[in-house]
Amino acid sequence: MVCSKAFVVSPATIANFGPGFDSFGLCLTAPVDEISIARQPAGRVDVRAVGKHKVPLEPEKNTASFAAMRLAELCGSDSIGFSMKIKKGMKPGSGLGSSAASSAGGALAMAALLGVRNKETILEAAAMGEELASGSRHFDNVAAAIYGGFTVVSDLKTRTVIHIKPPRFQIIVAVPDISVETKKAREILPEKVAVRDAVCNVGWASGMLHAMMSRNPRKIGSYLEDKLALPYRKELIPGYSSVHEAALRAGAYGVSIGGSGPAVFAISQGNAQKIRKAMVNAFKESAGLKSVSFITVPGPGARVQRLA
Ligand code: HSE
Repeated sequence: MVCSKAFVVSPATIANFGPGFDSFGLCLTAPVDEISIARQPAGRVDVRAVGKHKVPLEPEKNTASFAAMRLAELCGSDSIGFSMKIKKGMKPGSGLGSSAASSAGGALAMAALLGVRNKETILEAAAMGEELASGSRHFDNVAAAIYGGFTVVSDLKTRTVIHIKPPRFQIIVAVPDISVETKKAREILPEKVAVRDAVCNVGWASGMLHAMMSRNPRKIGSYLEDKLALPYRKELIPGYSSVHEAALRAGAYGVSIGGSGPAVFAISQGNAQKIRKAMVNAFKESAGLKSVSFITVPGPGARVQRLA
């Protein structure tokens, strides 16, 4: 069905999820970006933002409208005009897939206008938006935002995405008051890795998949390990080691960095408030950093909530 208006919510995601650099993603229930789109005369594109988080308003520089335009092109509707209103639910540069939420939401909103349901096309357009924001076309956040649950981009060339419904567990997130640019966090990674480090990651990533499929949150937490990115990136997050230890002491099953950071997340079943407070205090005491914190659960992915 072709429509004239749509309203979409698109969630935060945790990329890498421990050992799955550029491959694993976990979709969260909250926070979400809210995106409204309405048809306009051909060729006219307007972008508006509401709420406290600022985003670029030029259509070719805004992640959501950029992904929407790419989706229209992929579907042969290049000249479609539209107006878009964006309310960001998460701060850009926090490691919670902010750009992916906007890209996936923008692509899905345009797909809703055009009556397109093909997830591969939505994923492709969303990844173009992600590339605009971060300088690299990685699919892990956008795959999780579009498919929901736990996702594995198992083959980049063929864009194969494996989707697993995760068990229920709590995700406790603390975002310290610093910004980490994904581009910079990618540039500090080494070009080459030692075979022994790669072997560790292969083992942990395989263990993580088994733990997800056997729906065992305690084991999921135990595989939140990484030797490819975390050892380098934790240097960009003052207090990371103390926050990690504090969360485990308070009962977390495992702890890691959300995407390229600086968000740090822990998973648990129970003790969530205790873990949240321990993480916030550890950022304050070890690094003098204030942090925004919240507790959420795995979520279903970007959704069209209204069509007209
Ligand atoms: N996989 C990407 C990275 C996610 O870690 O650089 C960035 O949000």
